[in-house]
Amino acid sequence: MNIFITGGTTGIGLALAKLYLEEGHRVGVCARNLSKFPAEIRNKYKQLVCYEVDVTNREELYKAIHDFAPVELDMVFANAGRSVGAKSKTPQFSVANEIIDINVKGVLNTFDIALEIMMPRKKGHLIATASVAGFMGLPGAGAYSASKAAVLKLCESYALDLKPRGINVTAIAPGFVDTPLTKQNNHKMPFLMSADKAARLIKRAIEKKKVLYIFPFRMKVVVSILDKMPRSLYRLIMNLKMFNYSEE
Ligand SMILES: NC(=O)c1ccc[n+]([C@@H]2O[C@H](COP(=O)([O-])OP(=O)(O)OC[C@H]3O[C@@H](n4cnc5c(N)ncnc54)[C@H](OP(=O)(O)O)[C@@H]3O)[C@@H](O)[C@H]2O)c1
Repeated sequence: MNIFITGGTTGIGLALAKLYLEEGHRVGVCARNLSKFPAEIRNKYKQLVCYEVDVTNREELYKAIHDFAPVELDMVFANAGRSVGAKSKTPQFSVANEIIDINVKGVLNTFDIALEIMMPRKKGHLIATASVAGFMGLPGAGAYSASKAAVLKLCESYALDLKPRGINVTAIAPGFVDTPLTKQNNHKMPFLMSADKAARLIKRAIEKKKVLYIFPFRMKVVVSILDKMPRSLYRLIMNLKMFNYSEE
């Protein structure tokens, strides 16, 4: 298969790239700074192609995906993303804009370009990495929660529209995964799992062509309860010290 992964140089994207490379598939990865990609993997796999590309730049991304697989693209992972960094009670709008650009517009760019290649074959799979954060407005992470909520709804909608045209769509909603992104967090991260384990679970869910995959299971239970409860109760819980955060 030809598989393109945005944000494939570290964390979840890198773990996915390794899994598919080990199985002999052709893998294209992109990120803004390729020096983060482990040299030993770059040297080991001849069928790996790397692109230094920002997903918010549609033109660059178009060139990269079309260079990698101009006719037969089996899967694309719109995985590149950024989180909040230091949380603040005062909304940081420049950071918020960057988060929306990468996490939402980056996904739109990736899907748009990939679909153009997949549609004529009536075959392909679009996958986006959302987050459990997309199910609720988390304190200190308004733009991140909003960006991931957008990704969840885009995928839900596109899955309905594209299935009859032979294209599968999957939204992945991980809980906490140990990656450079979560290394910035200074709060507790329940049910934290390794990126390699997360990638194995994601791959299995994709093979089953799930439209939405929330993991780990214990986080799915917690999120389902928080998502369905009256919002007044949700606010009460989120204002408790153990769930909220204090500013430095
Ligand atoms: N880790 C978690 O607990 C967790 C939980 C839920 C959802 N997620 C989501 O999972 C995805 C992967 O996150 P991760 O935890 O694996 O984080 P990570 O290790 O920080 O990886 C992020 C990847 O995206 C790339 N990237 C960031 N901005 C980009 C841009 N504008 N254009 C191209 N590439 C870009 C990064 O490389 P460069 O910086 O060099 O561009 C890197 O390769 C994200 O969408 C994240 O929101 C993560």
